[in-house]
Amino acid sequence: MKRKTISMCLVGGLALTLSTCVWADGNAFKIGLILPMTGPQASTGRQVEAAARLYMAQNGDTVAGKKIELIVKDDTSAPDVTKRAAQELVVSDKVNVLAGFGITPSALAVAPIATQSKTPQVVMAAATSSITEASPYIIRTSFTLPQASVSLADWAPKNGIKTVVTMVSDYGPGIDAEKFFKERLTFNGGQVTESLRVPLRNPDFAPFLQKVRDLKPDALFVFVPSGAGAAVMKQFLERGMDKAGIRLIGTGDITDDDQLNDMGDGAVGVVTSHHYSAYHPSNANKKFVEAFQKANKGLRPNYMAVGGYDGMRVIYEALKATKGSGGGDALLAAMKGQIFESPRGPMFIDAQTRDVVQNIYLRKVERKDGQLYNVEFETIKDVKDPGKNR
Ligand code: DHB
Repeated sequence: MKRKTISMCLVGGLALTLSTCVWADGNAFKIGLILPMTGPQASTGRQVEAAARLYMAQNGDTVAGKKIELIVKDDTSAPDVTKRAAQELVVSDKVNVLAGFGITPSALAVAPIATQSKTPQVVMAAATSSITEASPYIIRTSFTLPQASVSLADWAPKNGIKTVVTMVSDYGPGIDAEKFFKERLTFNGGQVTESLRVPLRNPDFAPFLQKVRDLKPDALFVFVPSGAGAAVMKQFLERGMDKAGIRLIGTGDITDDDQLNDMGDGAVGVVTSHHYSAYHPSNANKKFVEAFQKANKGLRPNYMAVGGYDGMRVIYEALKATKGSGGGDALLAAMKGQIFESPRGPMFIDAQTRDVVQNIYLRKVERKDGQLYNVEFETIKDVKDPGKNR
């Protein structure tokens, strides 16, 4: 790439010196965006990439005199592929920032590379609490499962839910959700009567749901990653669990805006807690949703999209603050402590933990203007990740 730029300069410019040409190449600011663009987490990749491109379209591709270059790599959500992609982006492409990361194992696989190369790693999607502790170069703009889970465990016992069975995907975020929901529910006088863990790959929910039906708790609490919620909802309803008096609750991953509108009226009434709803009633969000849908054939942005959009904001503002001349450490320092209004509501990157502090909303699925939405009915303000400093 550099050689090409130099030879182009030599051919093209009489007055150009070699150093001018090298400067021209250094004038690019490269963001390596690693996402699952194919495979079971492809909706996450599609949402985050679309949001990153929207942010660039709205804010220009030149910042502090640097031309922003987005290099998208598909990791198929296989962590060894994520790791190889990150190595290549750092060594060959010489990216200034690594970003994306659809699932926790992918974010963790890249952490040592971020540390060694002193490259800021902006986690836009993955949400296990401990991710930010894997490298001092990690900043997160998504959320954490403990952050989303505890608010629901405060709400449930006040709303007739005393016994709960948890059912989570058997990896980092699911285990976080299970642990923090159970701990807080128990503290509040409720009881988790059984904890079920479902494989992440090719999950068959049927035998687990049958077990829940037999146990007959007041509610089933679910965490599954983005893209898997519709399958759980379908099987929950097909088995008549709602009719048997078992309520479905969970973090907002289950009523994912990417799929919610196709889940049907069986989803109406499901209560979840999360940091983002496409129905969030702010001007900033209305503008975001409208622009996102216009640029993406009507696709509704979900919580992954907002993580990508805000991640780009954090990168752009860090580049502005360092006037385009900072290395990884300077960029990282300028990412810490950013505070701004996101489409999700107010948001803050805690300088100590490098994690996101944000509102968590309790929401209920309702039909509005003919479409299914997560309608927020209560706000818990400025929630820090409860998984930190324990
Ligand atoms: C993770 C992935 C998801 O799709 C999600 O909704 C939450 C967490 C993760 O792997 O960290």
